[in-house]
Amino acid sequence: MFYVTTPIYYVNDIPHIGHAYTTIAADILARYNRLKGNEVFFLTGTDEHGQKVEKAAKERGKTPKEHADSMVDNFKDLWKKLNVSNDAFIRTTDTEHIKTVRELLQMLFDRGEIEKRSYAGWYCVPDERFWTEKDLIEGNCPDCGRPVEQIQEENYFFLMSKYQERLIRHIEENPAYILPETRKNEVLGFLKNNTLGDLCISRPKQRLSWGIPLPFDDNFVTYVWFDALVNYYSATRYLTPLPPHPPLTKGGQRGGSDWWPASHHIIGKDILTTHAVYWSTMLMALNFPLPGNIFAHGWWTVDGKKMSKSIGNVVDPNAMADKYGVDAFRYFLFREVPFGLDGDFSEDALIRRINTDLANDLGNLLSRFLTMAEKYFDERIDWVANKDEFVEKCIKTNENIHKEEYWLRLSFNLILEGIWQMIGDANNYIAQKEPWKLAKSNLEELKIVIFNIWNSLRLTALSIYPFMPDTAEKMWKQLGLKSLKEEAISRWEWKPDYEIKVSKGEQLFPRIEKKEEKQKIEKKEKAKMIEGVKELIAIDDFAKVELKVGKVVAAEKVEKSEKLLKLRVDIGEERQIVAGIAKSYTPDDLIGKKIVVVANLKPAKLMGIESHGMLLAATDEEGRLSVLTLDREVKQGARVK
Ligand code: ME8
Repeated sequence: MFYVTTPIYYVNDIPHIGHAYTTIAADILARYNRLKGNEVFFLTGTDEHGQKVEKAAKERGKTPKEHADSMVDNFKDLWKKLNVSNDAFIRTTDTEHIKTVRELLQMLFDRGEIEKRSYAGWYCVPDERFWTEKDLIEGNCPDCGRPVEQIQEENYFFLMSKYQERLIRHIEENPAYILPETRKNEVLGFLKNNTLGDLCISRPKQRLSWGIPLPFDDNFVTYVWFDALVNYYSATRYLTPLPPHPPLTKGGQRGGSDWWPASHHIIGKDILTTHAVYWSTMLMALNFPLPGNIFAHGWWTVDGKKMSKSIGNVVDPNAMADKYGVDAFRYFLFREVPFGLDGDFSEDALIRRINTDLANDLGNLLSRFLTMAEKYFDERIDWVANKDEFVEKCIKTNENIHKEEYWLRLSFNLILEGIWQMIGDANNYIAQKEPWKLAKSNLEELKIVIFNIWNSLRLTALSIYPFMPDTAEKMWKQLGLKSLKEEAISRWEWKPDYEIKVSKGEQLFPRIEKKEEKQKIEKKEKAKMIEGVKELIAIDDFAKVELKVGKVVAAEKVEKSEKLLKLRVDIGEERQIVAGIAKSYTPDDLIGKKIVVVANLKPAKLMGIESHGMLLAATDEEGRLSVLTLDREVKQGARVK
């Protein structure tokens, strides 16, 4: 059983590439494990309680639940679009989740793990965290740098401090518990050099009402992190594929749930402490097993800067997927930066990866291969066992790609490097074997070469599946294969029990012209269209253009321009239109004329003067313009069809 989670995201913001990153990472693991035949549960969701949500809802004039309901589809839709295969989506406002949080709180309270105390501290509202005086940096929150408020009140505390030694031991004895290594050392360093305090886990209702009420004291709601972290466990009691779910036990093996503990919690480095310290000690107090691994990945910046709404540089994953394709985007995120380290996002870097790794290396390899298979063997591939140096290399690389350690430690970049090693080797193999020569001299060897390339492409398709599921499926089909499911197919020796007939399909990754070049091309195309209609359009397209009869009521030359006239045209309403007709007409020629105007053009500025509309004119051989007029009296404003 393999259980992987993402953080549950705050419903306040719309998702950006950071959220997409974590969720796709979990998707890669889920897909890989399904391919291996493991039973998988992949959970993501949203964090919907707390002060931030309450505040945002108020600003929008909604109840917190209405606000959450209106935001949650942003996440669900994005996951669908990015081909994320989550098995469930948890919301902390789910009744079942709330029930579990309350049951666990009661259990801890009954065991004396939670205590009421009077407390004074510094509180950071946006982070919803208390700090002691010495934590503050220049009087501000040490995490986000924003001002804190002093608060004195009674609250409930989870007695976290007593688990300090046990947590240190657990981390030391389980080297993969916190990854990457640097993050583990960070947590250990913190635990060994500081005395762990107890954790305030309640908020008085008068200060925060949008939360889960404590089962043993209705005047308080639970701290948002206590509620949020429990999602990983509560989901196993009502969202997993294997009901019925047993009643909550007093902990022990599997914590009373078939799916607990999780194999991996994937998170960003920003929430490492809450997971490595709070969640781990909460589980210890509950007497539930700890998860297999907490992986805290690095942080994305954009063009060297922190992503922020105020700078306006937040990268929208929807837009990236639309512009460059889902798979290219997914690939880039995990190839560009080793998982765990910080990375910088730029569209230029993404385009470079698409053009080199995807279009050149992979796309060309497949299309060259299919062309050869078609030309030399009428698309049929014979399964021929004949191991040469290339095959030996492929087998070795393939073993590396599937190395258990890489997958346990989420070394995605090493796995992808392995896959591209195999692709590179196949490209070199073609260059070295020169199949076009073999076609004339040695058909038997050609057959072997073609089979070997086919087989390496098959393994490539399979290995890229977790990262680029659509591309893998396309390749799989073009390679004449049926089902992408069993683990056995990841071996070189796997032999399909059906005849293999490949078929050329669409190009996997068209090259992307650089932005400037692309713009130039678009401009040229536009110019061509204006010169003369090159393409046929549907009547509906023409109907979009609103043509109207207009009467020129005033006209004057635009200063410092040889070409432009500024006109006032009555088309039922008065419009200012700047037209490039000064070389063919004087202002007086035009005043009083009835002309034809495109009325629904977006306003534009010409030499700084707003022009709202365009008049129609024909050009003669010498480039002289002739404005379209009407040969009978028609009222201005009449529609031209
Ligand atoms: O913290 N780079 O939710 P959240 C990489 N609700 N990853 C990023 C990122 C960036 N620039 N920005 C965000 C919460 N992330 C809590 C979690 S879990 C029980 C409760 C990702 O909406 C990264 O995974 O603020 C980070 O940990 C998460 O989004 C924070 O999401």
